[in-house]
Amino acid sequence: MTPELQDLFAFLSFPSVSTDSKHKSDVLDCADWLIKKLSSIGLETQLHETPGHPIVTAKNKHLPDRKTVLIYGHYDVQPADPLDLWDTPPFAPEIRDAKIWARGATDNKGQMLAHILGIEKTLSEKGELPVNLILLFEGEEEIGSPSLAPFLETHKEFLKNDIIAISDTGMAAPNTGTLGYGLRGVACAEVKITGPARDLHSGLFGGTVANPATAVARLVASLHLPDGTVAIEGFYDAVRPLEAWEREMWAKVPGTSDKDFLEVTGSPETFGEPNYSSAERTWGRPTAEVNGIGGGYQGEGSKTVIPAEAFVKLSLRLVPDQDPQTILAQLKTHLEKHCPPGVNIEVEIGHDGKPYACDPHSDFGKAAQRALKRVFPGEPMLIREGGSIPIVQAFRDILGTDTLLLGLALADAQIHSPNENFPIANFEAGIKLNQALLEELAK
Ligand code: BES
Ligand code: ZN
Repeated sequence: MTPELQDLFAFLSFPSVSTDSKHKSDVLDCADWLIKKLSSIGLETQLHETPGHPIVTAKNKHLPDRKTVLIYGHYDVQPADPLDLWDTPPFAPEIRDAKIWARGATDNKGQMLAHILGIEKTLSEKGELPVNLILLFEGEEEIGSPSLAPFLETHKEFLKNDIIAISDTGMAAPNTGTLGYGLRGVACAEVKITGPARDLHSGLFGGTVANPATAVARLVASLHLPDGTVAIEGFYDAVRPLEAWEREMWAKVPGTSDKDFLEVTGSPETFGEPNYSSAERTWGRPTAEVNGIGGGYQGEGSKTVIPAEAFVKLSLRLVPDQDPQTILAQLKTHLEKHCPPGVNIEVEIGHDGKPYACDPHSDFGKAAQRALKRVFPGEPMLIREGGSIPIVQAFRDILGTDTLLLGLALADAQIHSPNENFPIANFEAGIKLNQALLEELAK
């Protein structure tokens, strides 16, 4: 095994699941491993305690008259369950079919380590980097980065940069240079409906009191029109229309036909807002999704009860210029207005992150495109992303700089799902890309 893969295997072995307090010490051990790795390549490295998981930073020696590039990544991962659906254990990485299989292989440890190893390689080949470098790695991305935004505020001077680069997004198709210039935002909420004081006999009481599970179903149904359009009042007011050039560009992006979406998702049909392609729906249009729903009897066979309570967990994906706080207020109003009579409703607002978009044709955007062309054949694809990295808009708000998204995640990487994987080819290309990127950004 190459030393690069050995590093990746070590990094992937930590179950650094940020959402689960059981794994707090694993997250810390993973941060410590990073500190050692970054120090070993000669960077000045620091571990910053936070109320949650630590932030790791590293810098080379900064010289005047050089561009300062900040590279961000996250070393936390999503939970691995359901465990029984993994072909091999999530934190015991393995190579099969020229891919590395493990939780975090793509999101984000493999992509993040490609940055670090690119830097290590340039340092060992040339003795120095072409730019002033700031590395910023957090352990709370998958839980909405609660400690990082305050950290940006208190470390503005320390983090001052000209441009930010991240590899934590999608690559349009294998061996296809992809520059992401936008991310959807996210806004989460949980609705709890309560009715009778306890589960009731549905024969003795059915028809006399309202059923909380029915109320949840009505609320969920009220969120969309039958054609898939979101029905929350005011939801589309601030949505920036797609530009002609991006619709044209996206139509050429490989891997985004309806057939491709069906293959990757395993769904019987694509479905969504009318008059938009699947790529447009995921990258450029907002949605409302049910992430979990429950209440009442879930066991084998039937049980004739009226449940005492029911719930639904929702997340909305937002696009520029929707504001998460405004949208969450609209959602709350909508839910309270559409709640049927006879039950109590409680809307608990969860975490959120703003959407983001920048100009891929800026000077730094062009430099990123040149770097992509040095590593991948053909012209780079310019895309936005359906997923969210909430800190990216905070970078712009607080530090005042834009972010280039140099994604290496393939559609079938199974991020957040069992059997997450990362092709060795993407890992190796990522290392080269990071070397080329710093050179091009320095010009
Ligand atoms: N790396 C992903 C986001 C991503 C993946 C964007 C692929 C584009 C393509 C990130 O780690 C992630 O999953 N973010 C969460 C954020 C949420 C928990 C606040 C998301 O999008 O659900
Ligand atoms: Zn990620």
